[in-house]
Amino acid sequence: MYVCLCRNVTDHQIRQAVEDGARSWREVQQQTGCGTQCGKCACTGKDITREVIREE
Ligand code: FES
Repeated sequence: MYVCLCRNVTDHQIRQAVEDGARSWREVQQQTGCGTQCGKCACTGKDITREVIREE
């Protein structure tokens, strides 16, 4: 599912960013661009990032 419509980022890409070594929401943002435009997706993006990091 798309999390960020501005930058076309999916939940899968967020998961992938964490698997590739991102250890914080900020690092996910840097890798994917998620939340770097209008910012509306930031809460969802952050929640998904935390969830995936917790799972690891
Ligand atoms: Fe993600 Fe706008 S929807 S920055």
